[in-house]
Amino acid sequence: MFRLAFTVVFLATEILPGISQQTVFNSEGHTNSQWTTFPHPITRVAVIGAGPAGLQAAAHLLEANLTVRLFERAPSPGGNWFYTEETPIREAYPETNPQSPEDLPASYPATRYYEEGEGGIALEERWRGHWHPRPVWYTLHTNSPAAMTRLPGVQHPPDTPWRLSVHNVERHVRAYASLHGLNSNDKPSSPPYSPIAAYATRVEAMQKCNETATWTLTLRRLEWLPESKRLKATYWTENFDAVVIATGHYTTPYVPSIKGIGNWSAAIEDGRHSIYHSQSFRHEERYAGRTILIVGASVSSTEIARTIAPFTNRLIASVQPNKNRDARGFDILFGFPEKSEVVPEISSFEPLRAGDTGIKKGKIVLNNGTVIEGVDEVIFATGYRPTHLGGPGTIDSLHWTGHYIHDPTLAYAFTGRTWSHGPYQSLAFAKVWTGKARLPSREQMWQDHQSKKYQFGSPLDVLPQEALTRQWVAWLNSESLEFGGKFVEPSPAETREVLVYYFNTHWRHDLFSHENFTWLDNLPRSEWPTAQKNGLDGQELAW
Ligand SMILES: Cc1cc2nc3c(=O)[nH]c(=O)nc-3n(C[C@H](O)[C@H](O)[C@H](O)COP(=O)(O)OP(=O)(O)OC[C@H]3O[C@@H](n4cnc5c(N)ncnc54)[C@H](O)[C@@H]3O)c2cc1C
Ligand SMILES: *[C@@H]1O[C@H](CO)[C@@H](O)[C@H](O)[C@H]1NC(C)=O
Ligand SMILES: *[C@@H]1O[C@H](CO)[C@@H](O)[C@H](O)[C@H]1NC(C)=O
Ligand SMILES: *[C@@H]1O[C@H](CO)[C@@H](O)[C@H](O)[C@H]1NC(C)=O
Ligand SMILES: *[C@@H]1O[C@H](CO)[C@@H](O)[C@H](O)[C@H]1NC(C)=O
Ligand SMILES: *[C@@H]1O[C@H](CO)[C@@H](O)[C@H](O)[C@H]1NC(C)=O
Repeated sequence: MFRLAFTVVFLATEILPGISQQTVFNSEGHTNSQWTTFPHPITRVAVIGAGPAGLQAAAHLLEANLTVRLFERAPSPGGNWFYTEETPIREAYPETNPQSPEDLPASYPATRYYEEGEGGIALEERWRGHWHPRPVWYTLHTNSPAAMTRLPGVQHPPDTPWRLSVHNVERHVRAYASLHGLNSNDKPSSPPYSPIAAYATRVEAMQKCNETATWTLTLRRLEWLPESKRLKATYWTENFDAVVIATGHYTTPYVPSIKGIGNWSAAIEDGRHSIYHSQSFRHEERYAGRTILIVGASVSSTEIARTIAPFTNRLIASVQPNKNRDARGFDILFGFPEKSEVVPEISSFEPLRAGDTGIKKGKIVLNNGTVIEGVDEVIFATGYRPTHLGGPGTIDSLHWTGHYIHDPTLAYAFTGRTWSHGPYQSLAFAKVWTGKARLPSREQMWQDHQSKKYQFGSPLDVLPQEALTRQWVAWLNSESLEFGGKFVEPSPAETREVLVYYFNTHWRHDLFSHENFTWLDNLPRSEWPTAQKNGLDGQELAW
């Protein structure tokens, strides 16, 4: 929850053409009540993404007896936490517009086979392009404490440290998937695949049909055919009454456009490029004895810097001035290790000479005129681009519940709220679509939206986040009084204490205290603090 970076990315944007939003339901047209109504009952719901958010959504929708399909492009659940040695397809330098999607077939269902090297593309590259390996490294540990990084109904083992390894979180999320029959190795209950979860299956496009008021998802599943050494792609479509988008935010790397970057990015040494985005960082040992320049001053850059520091010969960190910087120029939240030489931004990479291998002989000019030489490798830990399935603007039109205000049969799970608010939000999806909780009228939802109330804010906006929790609990429980259903609980008092202790020790001393929570508890809603900024507005993200 806290480190969240707030971008909202949608997904496979690099491959998704985006939703064509053709129908806007007019709730006012159906009734003049103060609540939003749907044009027909909702029975079939698609969930896109099997990370912690999508799994929770699927679990709640199933519990409400809806017909659910869960689509995940990766071969296994876990989302961001599914660690593999495989890395994403290397990013382009300079950044290019998202690639256009591979041609979709003219009709469905359809099948396509790929041979090794076909079109100049290796099979393993097609496979990685399809599922997009995660931007996490082998020794990554969470910056959120275990008590706040967990899913309902599954426990971390008793001796689990507060900072969880990526592997701890992966096991935890997979345990949750298994608990709900959503794991990739759960026995299919009807051949050949589970009727609920479809792994290695990417949503290529979504379209709303005007006549039927249903969503059509275009799907592509990729399978290895080891006997014939081929990949098989199957394309088909399925229709749904409602859709949850839970595709996470860290898919499209952001790389600053610095003069000369294209030339440097082409350099190869020992069969490897010398410039990578942090999404491909896996093991620190390979930096042994080398001079590394890391770019960026956020969570990934400082954590990767600390991880590789003991191995490197020299470690240089190029950072943009920002308001979290302390007197030494370090980001006070996530300091760089002692060893790093913090330098200003890069103004250019001077052209390499023909025949040079690698970048070691190249000159890097900083924007204060200083020239750096002798760098073996550059890591861009510059975060991610907001991209999202709905296309530009969709994410700016969400109610605090995650429903798309123009058409609340579409809802987004918020990455920033996965652990703390995910349990409430996913229950709300199920309740709203089965008529067990009411969404306000379209007009009221826009008003809520404009008021900037109930927004998540930055990772340090702890009190606005707590205020949002109060809002969730109050709303869900009052709807349960009206329509039946179990009550939900606020987060336990111990969890708050953990949060206070953890923040003050790991992040910033005296950031906030127990009393801040008590103060909030006693405030009427009209006086709740609002977030500094909407956590959903798109900028490059911190990671
Ligand atoms: C380096 C790094 C460190 C982090 N550390 C922390 C931490 O310490 N604590 C913390 O709370 N959070 C941390 N996060 C944030 C992390 O994103 C959340 O913890 C959490 O994983 C968000 O869950 P999610 O389900 O919303 O998204 P994700 O976990 O990203 O899952 C989204 C899923 O959607 C799938 N998908 C996307 N597009 C499609 C498509 N078109 N078709 C089918 N499937 C699709 C993806 O394959 C993915 O499995 C970190 C993130 C990064 C990048
Ligand atoms: C669907 O309906 C909208 C709004 O009525 C209209 O603008 C659009 O052209 C329609 N699309 C199709 C494909 O009929
Ligand atoms: C779902 O269906 C089961 C079996 O028919 C029933 O026992 C249960 O009450 C239903 N749950 C809800 C929330 O309607
Ligand atoms: C430019 O930055 C470098 C690295 O921080 C520093 O050593 C140098 O003194 C700076 N030069 C000027 C002119 O400020
Ligand atoms: C970089 O540019 C120079 C000058 O144009 C060229 O000679 C060199 O081959 C380029 N290097 C790479 C790796 O593309
Ligand atoms: C917590 O309370 C203290 C003392 O009242 C106050 O100075 C501080 O700003 C509060 N912190 C937050 C995050 O609201």
